[in-house]
Parts: sequence; structure tokens; C-alpha cells
Amino acid sequence: MAEPFYITTPIYYVNARPHLGHAYTTIVADVVRRYHRANGKDTYLLTGTDEHGDKIVRAAKAAGKTPLEFVTEISGLFRGLWPRLEIGHDQFIRTTDPSHIKTVGEILQRIYDKGDIYHSEYEGLYCFGCERFYGERELVDGKCPDHQTVPETIKESNYFFRMGKYQDWLIDHIQKNPGFIQPERYKNEVLAFLREPLEDLCVSRPKSRLKWGITLPFDNNYVCYVWFDALVNYISALGWPDGERFGKYWPAVRHLVAKDILKPHGIYWPTMLKAAAIPVYQSLNVHGYWNVEESKMSKSLGNVVEPLAMAEKYGVEAFRYFLMREMAFGLDASFSESAMVGRINADLANDLGNLFTRTLTMAHKYTGGIVPSPGDGDAEETGEGLRKDALAMAAEYRASMEGWHFHKAIMAVFDFIGKMNKYVDTSQPWVLAKRKEAFGQLGFVLYNLLEGQRLAACLLAPVMPKTASVMLERLGMGEGQVSPESLGRWGILPPGSRLGKAVPLFPRIDMEKAMGTETAPGAPVSSGPPLKPQVDIEVLRQIDLRVGKVLSAERVPKSSKLLKLEVDLGEIRTIVAGIAKTYAPEDLVGKNVVVVANLAPARLMGVESQGMVLAAVDGSGAHALLPDGDPPPGTPVS
Ligand code: MSP
Repeated sequence: MAEPFYITTPIYYVNARPHLGHAYTTIVADVVRRYHRANGKDTYLLTGTDEHGDKIVRAAKAAGKTPLEFVTEISGLFRGLWPRLEIGHDQFIRTTDPSHIKTVGEILQRIYDKGDIYHSEYEGLYCFGCERFYGERELVDGKCPDHQTVPETIKESNYFFRMGKYQDWLIDHIQKNPGFIQPERYKNEVLAFLREPLEDLCVSRPKSRLKWGITLPFDNNYVCYVWFDALVNYISALGWPDGERFGKYWPAVRHLVAKDILKPHGIYWPTMLKAAAIPVYQSLNVHGYWNVEESKMSKSLGNVVEPLAMAEKYGVEAFRYFLMREMAFGLDASFSESAMVGRINADLANDLGNLFTRTLTMAHKYTGGIVPSPGDGDAEETGEGLRKDALAMAAEYRASMEGWHFHKAIMAVFDFIGKMNKYVDTSQPWVLAKRKEAFGQLGFVLYNLLEGQRLAACLLAPVMPKTASVMLERLGMGEGQVSPESLGRWGILPPGSRLGKAVPLFPRIDMEKAMGTETAPGAPVSSGPPLKPQVDIEVLRQIDLRVGKVLSAERVPKSSKLLKLEVDLGEIRTIVAGIAKTYAPEDLVGKNVVVVANLAPARLMGVESQGMVLAAVDGSGAHALLPDGDPPPGTPVS
């Protein structure tokens, strides 16, 4: 029976749209799954969404929706995104699924019956952003380290899990099982935390404060703390306690998270499992954080990277490649579009793409599009170098993949691709092709190059499945070619088989065009950022759009972007518009523009703006919408 291999991602909060960070974790999970499946394991990938708690209630309120409507909509965005990034999850769990809710109740009851959950009055420092109490020593300058706000002191009667009781057991378990938390730095972080006494964990929230959660089975007045609820997803998804999948995949589980949620996974979860007498997970694998152009990714900085926009602009495979190649698992990395274009051009278009087309073109020219036999060559003359390099590379790749050093695994393959490019230059097949007596040698060289690329394609398949598939198909390998044997052996490509025509794998991207407004050549057309969620016509009707005539325009002092306009809408308004880079003030006087007439006034560079001029904004500037004809000022726009 195939060895089970269960991999999980965090279940993501549905208070915001999916971004680069979520995409990275889920792509890693998919790469790991594909690698282990190719190696003959029985894999299972779980992802999903975390839908209870105060954060969600607040986000739903801001969107004017009920919590359930809201979570269903955002959860759908996550679920819909993964297949578009070529992620093949086996299950998508939602914490609002009835089966999950039932399991959380059962686990709570089990731990309660055992006496490890108790009721008590507690006064503590509570961060509403994190939905949890903080100990003094966890605060930084008296503030929540995540939200930079001073937590409020609140006093409440609540239920507590005796987490402290399991502290010594946990320390011992971590020390006796070296791979339990990895990389090492995160294991050390957890152990450092466990040097101080471990406090019990508050696992309830009174319904007077929060209703959107799972009711405690032993007290109707409380809901379950969102982390206790969320962590249980890893087993509720498998049908704990006696589901078939639970029997098969638990505890062969590798949890995958980023460093932000190390503590719940490294401390709460193993102690919860221990208390419930469930075997503890096999390993917790922790990666670092993506920053964007060296800054933290955040909505307020406006630098949130939309994974779908990137994948559409540059291609899913190139996007997956860049993320896996750029981040050393465990450390932080910085995302920048220019670095991505640089890597696509250097590694994928140049090194891999050129080698592939070059080799196939030569094989069509010199051996009639048939895989030649390697046996006719003189290994002494050409050297056995490439075959040895290939096998050493495959071994290094394997060790790196098993150790979660994905970037090293990829580097090993590309180092080998570099060697193949050099091999073409030094063995000069075009010279061999001119001498009849060198034909055997020519076949040997071409076979080595084709077989080397067959191996490279198999090893890159977890990261770039479609590219690998195209390569293998052109190499005449047919479907379902990535088997455990194909990953570490030489000489799989059968001589005599027919090769497909050369095909460009990755077109070169013009950096300037790509970073400006144009879409990369060859990539699917992307028309700006992804669309916002649908709104009802009623929402649109609330916005009062009017035609306005510009009476005067001048630059706002000290601003390169802003113009101050006097606009006639039937009444005269002062409006500040960010269009100074596209229009000189005199260009606008006498023109009609479209104005959002009922927008709350706002101050921009010291000037009160009483409305907003609509403009199409792209990389080259802001182009105001100028209605045709001469509708009188104040005419509604609908
Ligand atoms: N709902 C909890 C997890 C519960 S798991 C039982 C949660 N959700 S989250 O939406 O905030 O997701 C956090 C995870 O998203 C991180 O652990 C990581 O996997 C991913 N990332 C979010 N931002 C990230 C970066 N900037 N960089 C890398 N990954 C990050 O926490």
C-alpha cells in the first residue's frame, strides 16, 4: 500500500481577498504534494477558510452583508483561485461546514469531560484585533505587536484549557523528535517560549460580545475561541474519529504555515491533541514572510500583490517558478515585479527555453526528428560528464526537496541546464554533422541533451506541471511520464522514438513594456486588476454622478499630481483632481467632466475637495472622462 502523505495549508481568514502570501503557501503545498505523488506516495492536500470570529463580523458589517453571506462570497474567491494557479487540492474545508462544527463540539466535550477545560473569572489585557488576551511579556512597549494598539483590560468569566499542564510533555516531545518543528530556528523559537511558564488558554467568548462562532457544548452562553475552532479543521476534514480518511492519513500529516501563526500551531495544537488523546501531528513546516519591494505588504500601503493579476500577466507557471525559486523556505523574501521579469528572462526564456528549442531543432535537422541511440558514440571522447552531472543533480534535488529547500532543488536543476548549454557549445553538434565518421558521436551528444532535458522536465514538474508536460510530450514521452523511476535514472528516453517540433516555452518579456502598461507577449491579456465583487444596482444608484463644466483650473502648490478645479454642476464646487500629470490646467477650462457629486468632502494638500472627477487611471496617468456633446452642467450621468 502506498505510504500516506497528508499536507495542509492554514485555513485562511475570509476578511480579505486572497493575496500573494496565501498564494505562496498554497503553491508550496501543491509542489510538495506533486513531488511526493510522483514518488509514489498517497497524497492528500487540505486547504480551506476560517470563517468565525470578531474580525469576520466586522468585515461583513463594513461590506453591508450578513456574516454568512459575506464568508460565503470571500471563501468562494479562495476556492476559485486555487485551480487557476494549478493547485490541485483534495478538499476545501470551511469552518462553517456542519461536520466541522460537530467535530469541534466533540473535541471540546472530550477535553471538558477529562477535566482539562474549566470555568473561571479572568481579568486580562485583550486585543480586539487579534481576538485574544495577551500576557504582559508578549507586548512590545505595552502594545500588541501585530496591531500596535494598547490592549484593553477586560474582566470576564470564561472557559480555560489547561494548556500549562502539557508544557513539560511538549518540551520533551519537541526535543525527542528533531523534525517536529522545522526549520530549526522556529523550533528554537517555540522552545524559547516554553522556557517561561505556559499559561492556560482561554477557549471561550461570551455570546454577549460575540455570537458568530461555535456554541460550547457544555454552556450555551459562550462560543468557542476562533483558534480552537480553526485548528480542529485538520482532523474534522478527515472525519475524525472514525472516518476512513482519518484512519489513513492521520498522523502522517505535514502542516505548512508561515511564521505569523507559529504559536497556535507549535503550542496550542499539539497540546490540544494530547489532551484529546489524539496522536500528535508529524511535522510543522514554517516559512517566512513575503514583503513587497522590501516593505511589509499591507492594504494601507496599497502594495498588496494580487496573485491572479500576476499569473495572468506573466503566466501561472512562471509565477509559480518565481515564488518557489526566490524564497528560501523559512526566511523572508521580497517580491518585485522587475525581479520576477528578470528571472523569467534569464532562467526560463534564456537558459531553459533556448536550450529546448535549440536541441529539438538540431535533432530534427541532424537525426530526422528521431531520438538517436547513445551507444554509437565514443564516451571517452565526449566524456561521461553530462550523465554523471545529471545523476549528481538528481540526488541533490531529491535531498533538497525532502528537506523543504525548494529553491536549492530548483537551483540544482538550473545549474545542470547551464551545463547542458555549455555542452552544446563545447561538443558542437553542427561540426559533428559535417563529418560522416562523427555521426555516432553526434547521436551520443544529442541523446545526452534530450535525456538531460527529459530528466530536468520530470524534476521541474512539481513546480511547472504544464511546462514539464509540454517538454515531455515534445520529447516523445507521451502522457503520465513522471514516475518514481523517471526521477533519478538515466537512459529512460527510448532511442528510435519520434520527437515533436520545437516550441518556444517562455517568450522573452520586454521589461519596459511589461512594467508599463502593456501585457507581456505571449501571456494572456490582462485588463487591469481583477474585478471587485459584484454590487447590486441599488448600490450604484446611491452614487450621484453629474456632468460638470470646468470654469477654472490651477496647480495645487507643492504637488505634481493635483489640480484645483472650479466646476459648475448647477452649483459651483471646488474639486481637487489627481490629473496634473496628464493635463495642463489650461487644457481643461471649458471642458465637461463627470463628477461624483455626493462624495463626502475631503482635504487634499490643504484644499477641501467637494467631489471627485472620474478618470481612467493606468500606468501612463489619469485620463478624465470627457462626455461628448454639450450637456448642461448638473445633467445626471447614469
Ligand atoms: N485563519 C488563520 C489560520 C488558521 S489555521 C488553523 C490565519 N489566516 S490568515 O488568512 O491570516 O493566513 C495566514 C497565513 O497566510 C500565513 O500563515 C501564511 O500561510 C499566509 N500569509 C499571509 N501573509 C503572508 C505573507 N506576507 N507572506 C507569506 N505568507 C503569508 O492566520
